[in-house]
Amino acid sequence: MALRGARRYDSPAMRVLAIESSCDETAAAVVEDGRVARSSIVASQVDLHAKYGGIVPEVASREHLRRIGPVVREALEAAGCGLEDMDAVCATRGPGLAGALLVGHGTGKAIAFGRELPFLGVNHLEGHVYANWLMEGPPPAFPALCLVVSGGHTDLILMRGHGQYERLGGTLDDAAGEAFDKSGRLLGLPFPGGPAIARVAAAAGASALRLPRAWLRGTFDFSFSGLKTAVLRAVREERAAPAEIAWEFQEAVVDVLAGKVSRAARELGAAEVLLAGGVAANARLREEVRARSPAPVRIPPPALCTDNAAMIGAAGGHRLALGQRSALGEDVFSANDWSRV
Ligand code: KG4
Ligand code: ZN
Repeated sequence: MALRGARRYDSPAMRVLAIESSCDETAAAVVEDGRVARSSIVASQVDLHAKYGGIVPEVASREHLRRIGPVVREALEAAGCGLEDMDAVCATRGPGLAGALLVGHGTGKAIAFGRELPFLGVNHLEGHVYANWLMEGPPPAFPALCLVVSGGHTDLILMRGHGQYERLGGTLDDAAGEAFDKSGRLLGLPFPGGPAIARVAAAAGASALRLPRAWLRGTFDFSFSGLKTAVLRAVREERAAPAEIAWEFQEAVVDVLAGKVSRAARELGAAEVLLAGGVAANARLREEVRARSPAPVRIPPPALCTDNAAMIGAAGGHRLALGQRSALGEDVFSANDWSRV
């Protein structure tokens, strides 16, 4: 790719400015060669949405608009460079909240247009997967089995090569993060429920309470809505202290996720197991997948599991290296699937 502008760096790396704004984090990062994050800035709106008990799309869009400029500037400063040092711009194109996506995607396109840089819209799910390429050492080995678990998606994916995704299964109802968030609300915990449940469950440490696991045997699918109903019933009937219910809820989710990951890795001969998405920040899930997997396990540090822009720069960097570009007329999308990766 042609390098533009007076570069203060003398390395031949392809340097990408990446932007993420699909939900409630306004994020920007500078990523080299799809593998090294020189900076990663995340401005969370969580306090703003907490009082509503969930994300309010209109509020999220307006907050993105307010923060996107400063966040991009901070990402460049933290990387010790300026726009003149960038070789391309990437931004999340979907899935996510349309109004929220438009802010980051539009900003990315505007910067690319102004600087005459290549632009690439990046699929958010692929971004989560590629957080695994930001870790030191050799890159993940194919075929890689990847569990993508976040607030909006729960998918088990077999990756035979870059950009090649075979969906083995996924949730039939709630996403894993959604189950954490909804159960957290039933337990009277603050939003988001995932980290809150993890915290009180760790304090409880154990419980005699037993909640159901939906195994959906013979498939790589998941179902969490029955578990959520069981949490509701346990709370109403006061079958255990809220912290104990949280503990057993987390055990049930982790048990099914880790169980299916290890079976899929064994049956499909995965060379490596990757975890991705906000729920992959969960300490019990990390521990249990590592304990049960027949293949080596790679899990990004928690800050790269939850939404961030470095992962968008990692996925985008790999596609840019293959010569892929988006037109500046590209639109965002909200479809929550793997058909538009
Ligand atoms: O990937 P992410 O930041 O955003 C989406 O793309 O959805 O994931 C957010 C989800 C939320 O549901 C949140 O509760 C969950 O990830 N989460 C966790 C933990 N940290 C975040 N769930 C369980 N344990 C955690 N430590
Ligand atoms: Zn996400």
